[in-house]
Amino acid sequence: MSEQNQDNGIDRRGLFRWVINGVTGAIGAVVAVVAGVAIAAPSFKKDSTQWLPAGRVLGLQPQNPKPVTLRVVHKQGYYEAVDHEVVFLVRGTDNEVRAISSVCTHLGCHVHWDPEARLFQCPCHGGQYDITGKVIGGPPPRPLATYATRTDSSNQIFIEL
Ligand code: FES
Repeated sequence: MSEQNQDNGIDRRGLFRWVINGVTGAIGAVVAVVAGVAIAAPSFKKDSTQWLPAGRVLGLQPQNPKPVTLRVVHKQGYYEAVDHEVVFLVRGTDNEVRAISSVCTHLGCHVHWDPEARLFQCPCHGGQYDITGKVIGGPPPRPLATYATRTDSSNQIFIEL
């Protein structure tokens, strides 16, 4: 009788261990899948750009950069963040509109347009750029970034960010 109980006890313990191992394995598998998706998903995400309205061509004086503030929405799943980017619009003599970033390529300060010197000046370390964004002086290692632009039939300017 006691041997039978011991056998039943071993069977019950074995079954109990089997259930515990199964549940633990299932939890481990779910955690691995969730962690894998969380790690791998951003690498599959395509960087999306957006065309943002930035004013009208007629509001720009030729060769006189005008800063515009753009509202940029970044979406990541259910999360949404809003940035404000300052971009200079430069209307050329041919009416072509160029968009130049206001972020200095040295350490990221914001440049401003100096109409008397006809240069973009960085207040942080004296970086200077010409009207095309090319480095003229100071420590910046690269020209100011530029963005693609397009104009629709009503002369509305759009910038690709
Ligand atoms: S951040 Fe502009 S010159 Fe240093």
